[in-house]
Amino acid sequence: MTADSRNPAEKSMNQNDMEENAIVAALLSGIEGGLELVRTIGKGSLGTVYECADKNGTPLAVKLMQGSPMIEPDTFENIITAALKTRSISETTRVVKVISAGKIENFYYILMELFKGGTLEAVLAKNNLSIKDKVRIGAEIAKTLADIHSKGIVHNDLKPSNVLLDKDNVPYLNDFYLFVSRPSKPFSGMPQGTPYYMSPEQASGQIPAVTNDSYSFGVLLYELLTNSMPYREHPRNITEMIHVVTEGKIVRPSKKNSAINAKIEAIILKLLSRDLETRYRDMNVVASDLLASISGKQISIPYRKSMLSKVFTFFGSN
Ligand SMILES: Nc1ncnc2c1ncn2[C@@H]1O[C@H](COP(=O)(O)OP(=O)(O)OP(=O)(O)O)[C@@H](O)[C@H]1O
Ligand SMILES: [Mg+2]
Repeated sequence: MTADSRNPAEKSMNQNDMEENAIVAALLSGIEGGLELVRTIGKGSLGTVYECADKNGTPLAVKLMQGSPMIEPDTFENIITAALKTRSISETTRVVKVISAGKIENFYYILMELFKGGTLEAVLAKNNLSIKDKVRIGAEIAKTLADIHSKGIVHNDLKPSNVLLDKDNVPYLNDFYLFVSRPSKPFSGMPQGTPYYMSPEQASGQIPAVTNDSYSFGVLLYELLTNSMPYREHPRNITEMIHVVTEGKIVRPSKKNSAINAKIEAIILKLLSRDLETRYRDMNVVASDLLASISGKQISIPYRKSMLSKVFTFFGSN
């Protein structure tokens, strides 16, 4: 196709892309001795993530966030501080490694290792893994959450796009930007996090705790296994969403996917419990219950036995 045969919208779109790429390439040349832009990976709520290469040709990912009068400068400063803090745990836990983070011109950046395996969001979109493989990935995520919790850290923004997979489908946690180390005070102002994955208490602005992550993990696991969200209602805005998270009715996951067994269902419902006394706190227990649920072993919590398994139990075969 010649340039002139394109329609005006397409032409201006390409021109915008070219202009954006030129700005990004210029910014990247000023980071870490000069980075080279390779491609755009994706856009998020606060910025865009690009694949790039450092001066030795090592492939990396960089997130660029543009300062704007609409967003308080504190927001970005806190994100950069939190990203740099995760470097102390990324050697020993499955957390995406941050190489450097800072400000260049009017942009904030986070330079990190590149994950070519994509995100859990892409796994959801392809939907080509078995229930067992999905539960195994879930157990790995639960184990990593247990590791960060044991270091006094709460992630607070767990969702599929913040879980990256390596080439063997091993999950790594990303975007610890709302993370709270040894939480002590409630959030101020608007609840922070991603509405659909926010726990009821996070949505109502209470003190962040490890149980936030258990709940968000419950939503993520529900979505991974059913390709849908837990609530019957379909909220149209944040206010409705907060109402649904605090009052809505959860549909049993096995109603959406009959391959979900009673043990997995019990684990998900306990993760999503609104009652903090009932919800799992120890993500190590969640990880071992998940693995037990797919290998015919006992889990640590009660679950509804099917008629068939009751018959087997009666005849002593389980
Ligand atoms: N290190 C990385 N390697 C590969 N892909 C990445 C990396 N970091 C982020 N991504 C991907 O880039 C895309 C944009 O990420 P970004 O974090 O900006 O947005 P998001 O996670 O969708 O939403 P939010 O802004 O709420 O975090 C997502 O698909 C994300 O998974
Ligand atoms: Mg993200």
